Amino acid sequence: MDRLKDGFVMDLKSRCSFSQIASKYLELTKKGRNYWARCPFHYEKTPSFTIDEYEGFYHCFGCGESGDLIQFIRKMENLSFMEAVEFLAKMVGVEVEYDKSVDAKAIAEKNREKKEVLKALNDAKEFYKKQIYAKTSVKAQNYLRDRRINRASLENFEIGYSPNFQAVVRSLNELGYDNQTLVNAGIASQKDGKVYDAVAERLIFPIYNNYCEVIGFSGRILDKELDVPKYKNTRQTIVFDKSRAIFGLKQVINAKREQRFNTLILAEGQIDVIMLHQFGFQNAVATQGTALTEQHAMLLKKICDNVLVCYDGDNAGQKATFRALDILQKAGLSIKVITIPNGQDPDEFLKKNGKEAFEKLIENAEELMDYKIRVTAQSFDMSSNDQRTKFLKQAIDLIRDLPSLALADVYVRPIAKYANVSENVVRESLTAQMSTLKKEKKATDEELKQFSENFVDANQKADKIILASMVHKKPYVTYDQTLAFVSTNYQRLYQWLLEKHDSNTEFRISELYDHFDLENDKDIAELINFHFSSSEEKDKQEYLNSLNLNKIRALEVEIKDLETLYKNATDLSKRTELLNKIGNYSRELTRLKTTFIN
Ligand code: CTP
Ligand code: MN
Repeated sequence: MDRLKDGFVMDLKSRCSFSQIASKYLELTKKGRNYWARCPFHYEKTPSFTIDEYEGFYHCFGCGESGDLIQFIRKMENLSFMEAVEFLAKMVGVEVEYDKSVDAKAIAEKNREKKEVLKALNDAKEFYKKQIYAKTSVKAQNYLRDRRINRASLENFEIGYSPNFQAVVRSLNELGYDNQTLVNAGIASQKDGKVYDAVAERLIFPIYNNYCEVIGFSGRILDKELDVPKYKNTRQTIVFDKSRAIFGLKQVINAKREQRFNTLILAEGQIDVIMLHQFGFQNAVATQGTALTEQHAMLLKKICDNVLVCYDGDNAGQKATFRALDILQKAGLSIKVITIPNGQDPDEFLKKNGKEAFEKLIENAEELMDYKIRVTAQSFDMSSNDQRTKFLKQAIDLIRDLPSLALADVYVRPIAKYANVSENVVRESLTAQMSTLKKEKKATDEELKQFSENFVDANQKADKIILASMVHKKPYVTYDQTLAFVSTNYQRLYQWLLEKHDSNTEFRISELYDHFDLENDKDIAELINFHFSSSEEKDKQEYLNSLNLNKIRALEVEIKDLETLYKNATDLSKRTELLNKIGNYSRELTRLKTTFIN
């Protein structure tokens, strides 16, 4: 089980009408050959979400989301790939066909264990949840009341309570789970052959993955004990990894279905998240007491494009905060920073000042660079000349890597203000640092690198245009020559397209989803989403130019190879033959280089 028979997904998709299925979720309008709707993945007033029924894929011109029918079901129903296939098969009344080879068995075994662990975690969650209502759980109930966590939050976050070290183990044993499963799931720990609740005597917060499955717990102590950590998380297991865990994920995913926001509030603690939701900010999440990782950032990016970072007010973690901000930015998120006064956390602030006050904080959230400059300025005493110089250097370090001098110049004024110097002083020192940078560059051959990067860029762009035109079956596409692609993914795709062409087999774009891993191979996904211009003539010229570039590249490689052969050849007739070839190729190269259409 659990690995599909080759070609099954393609078969399944060909039996479904994408638009018919999509119309269960969206209001579709047919325009031309495509269907249009308001995008379910981002908020919009006018439709920019299209379904190409024939090719079998969707694409949103607004947010750039795209995928095939399986992808669509996964997103709409929050399912894993396999679940979406099973879901769809059931919907259209088709029996799922699995692959039964040996390799599949090992995978199936692992999946079985995973499923068992997830089931146990869910049952553990149910158990903890029940405990909170027990008469004997007065302490937990009082704690919730003291922290003003209301009934709705209790239910929304499925908060629970572990009364002692044995109860959850016993209860799950009764349900038929053996101790090994409980240990595998991280629900229980093992010591001296005994198995006990890993988060015993704590308030329990379930943690979910992006399929809204419980993957672990965070437990908070109720008393202020000195020697025990305040929070204890599930250790690493087959399903729980703290560098990927995000608290509030399920709640945010659910809320987004109704509100379609595109901004997340990123806080530090789970009580903060709960309070934010309770006060109406249903887009709040937090990492689980670990530094933010790239995986966290990527997960967040899957949900929204913007993040309001709302870390605790203490300045202790300034470096850590800067690092987290950089990670978020690298993931392509656009960031603003909320600063809560007096070192409070969102939980304290909301309780003291209420919803409107927090909305004000959001309104006044700072742009990333403004925030960095301000925080940096605050760590210097500007009345000292020495400190002021140090600040200027650090501040300029922050802005000098911005993509353009014009952009960097925007921050000259605030920096000058903080340092209490004239803007020109800042500007001069910015230019000075930039020119030393330039010198360094020359010394390190940076420019050469830049040049070759530009070259690579142009070639990549050309390859993209060629393959996108082929994928989208543009009428001007020709298959009359053998092209070569630098990227292995592209080469694989080209080979695939070529086979289809040579065997006269028609293909649909949706088949690409079965043959390539489009979630990870973004370069291929990009081709499906490729934006052609509105003029076919222009697109055609671009295509022809791109073919040229591809051929030139191939020829240049060929000529280099021939030159090496020539240098090493000793036989005179061989050398003459090679020289002739090189001459022919070079003439062809020159011709190609002069035939670009503008
Ligand atoms: N944390 C943790 N282990 C600890 C302390 C904290 O995992 N020993 C994590 C928790 O996820 C916690 C977050 O770090 O929510 C922030 O910690 P902190 O600011 O100390 O706690 P608060 O969120 O303010 O928690 P509380 O209000 O419950 O004290
Ligand atoms: Mn707190």
